[in-house]
Amino acid sequence: MLKLGTIFSGIGAIEHSLERLGIEYKVSFACDNGGIDIFSKTIERNLISVDKEIEELEIRLSSLTNESYKDANELDIQEHFEHIQKRREELETESIIVAERILKERFLLSTIDNFLEMITNSRVKMKYSSFLGSFQGMQINDISKSHLYYLLRDSRDFYKGLKDEELIHSLLGVSLKEYEVHYKAFVETSAVRKLNSHLTEVIDTINMLIERLSTVEILDDLSKLKDFRKKKKYIDNLYKPKKKSNFVLQSYLANYEINEEHFHWNASFLDGKQYKDQIDLFVGGSPCQSFSMVGKRRGLQDTRGTLFYEYARLIKEIQPKVFIYENVKGLINHDGGNTWATMQQVFDDLNYDWKFQVLNSKNYGIPQNRERLFVVGFRKDIELKEEFSFPTPIPLEKKMQDFLLDSVSGKYYLNKKGVEFVTKEKNIMKRFTQIDGDIQLCQKANQQFNWHGDFVFVEENKDKEKMMEDLEKYFLSEKVEKYVMSSGTKNFYSKPKIDLEIARPLLTTMHKMHRAGVDNYVTTEGRIRKLTPRECLRLMGFCDSFKIVVSDTQMYQQAGNSIVVDVLMEIMRSIIKSLPEITEGKNYKYRDNIEQLSLL
Ligand SMILES: C[S@@+](CC[C@H](N)C(=O)[O-])C[C@H]1O[C@@H](n2cnc3c(N)ncnc32)[C@H](O)[C@@H]1O
Repeated sequence: MLKLGTIFSGIGAIEHSLERLGIEYKVSFACDNGGIDIFSKTIERNLISVDKEIEELEIRLSSLTNESYKDANELDIQEHFEHIQKRREELETESIIVAERILKERFLLSTIDNFLEMITNSRVKMKYSSFLGSFQGMQINDISKSHLYYLLRDSRDFYKGLKDEELIHSLLGVSLKEYEVHYKAFVETSAVRKLNSHLTEVIDTINMLIERLSTVEILDDLSKLKDFRKKKKYIDNLYKPKKKSNFVLQSYLANYEINEEHFHWNASFLDGKQYKDQIDLFVGGSPCQSFSMVGKRRGLQDTRGTLFYEYARLIKEIQPKVFIYENVKGLINHDGGNTWATMQQVFDDLNYDWKFQVLNSKNYGIPQNRERLFVVGFRKDIELKEEFSFPTPIPLEKKMQDFLLDSVSGKYYLNKKGVEFVTKEKNIMKRFTQIDGDIQLCQKANQQFNWHGDFVFVEENKDKEKMMEDLEKYFLSEKVEKYVMSSGTKNFYSKPKIDLEIARPLLTTMHKMHRAGVDNYVTTEGRIRKLTPRECLRLMGFCDSFKIVVSDTQMYQQAGNSIVVDVLMEIMRSIIKSLPEITEGKNYKYRDNIEQLSLL
């Protein structure tokens, strides 16, 4: 039996592939946090809140010990902090530039003045944020220029929230509408836009450092626990309040057998040593945004970049016989090729013979244009029957239409009343109706409208979406249809093509938007609709036996995140050609001349 370990497990594309291939397997462990972030803070968008966070970070940093100072990817945390400090200074300069402009706009200035008076006025009942609270009782001239823009923004929210037109007029001297025009013209200037986007960046970078620090602190705690079960319990407790929101976990548990003891939350906290030498196949595709910082290493762009290093760390700790890594094709050219160059070096250092190739699912039986990078590695001490090569493309025989729900078939199913009539003992006794009969009762001319006559029993119509009425919610409204069909939308110019034979790549954002040239649309009985979650699953290679236990939104997201099952099946076939023993998970042959270097 093949022993499988996965991280970033998603909805188990590899598990489903093994099932479709008829390979007996056991999930030794899986790991997916369902995209849940327990570390990020909601940081108010102003300099005072930013400073407060920086102060807290400084305190936390000072209590780090030397050993825990560096995390898995060895990015210097201190450097990350200095980067934030530097960006904060730049933000202050930009805030002052914007403030100079506000000072020249008399009208805006007076609206801030009025606002300051309002928040001082104790009769006005309003909730102060800590930011506003610090200006209570102050005049504009007492306030540092660097806070002026944030005050302007909060004052706008305040006026907008007032329901009393008369009061608004008395405060502003103009109607809310006129005020809004003025305000909008100001905030759309390039200086303000730049300031806002830099503020977002600083807040994101602070949150990344908070996440990294928390990770380091947790790892420090975990290192003091020797027992793997205790370590798992510690992490489970951290995520316990969020368990119900891990929809990936729900999908996974509904579809695969796994002892929950071995379903882990966060790859960063998974200690691979507990599975050392027990895994035949290790699979994972780190979240695709994650590569953005890998190449830079010190780029401080994205904490998720560290997840690739977690994947590599787990290979070192677990020493699986074979691994499969998957990611988006764009990774190869990212950052002028630096990202991929760094990753190749990391793969080289693992003591595996590895190969990579970009595969498009349309070349492996699935009519979806989805190109992904695959890396397959074999532990160097394992003897292969033949050298591994990626599967060669196979001619595509199916169209997207072959994967759509049979919307017509629903018509042939009886509704509830019909079922009651047909199955009524009296009607069967009188031979008005017959179910699964050998010899047909006399057919009526209007049989299609008739509940009398012959019926066949079809096992419960589990896939409810078969019914036309269930498809109803996927049809586009007239307005959306017009939008989708007009050539090009605001951000995406492309010809509106529907009913494609090869689907566009399914995205995790399928539930959100209607984007001509990006999303997939099909027609059913002359009306345009989007794909149903079941159809998306089919186009990712999942059979209808896959149980959908989450909302449409979640299912679209999970399907769009997955690896195409058929591609994995072909890769598996190639792996088996090189290493047939993997299906049994035993009797491997080891090379004598190569010493397996334990990198631990
Ligand atoms: C691009 S998907 C990969 C899907 C998967 N390879 C498959 O076969 O379907 C990334 C997955 O990683 C999960 N994830 C993100 N950060 C994680 C972390 N730190 N630890 C574990 N899982 C994580 C997400 O919830 C998501 O399901």
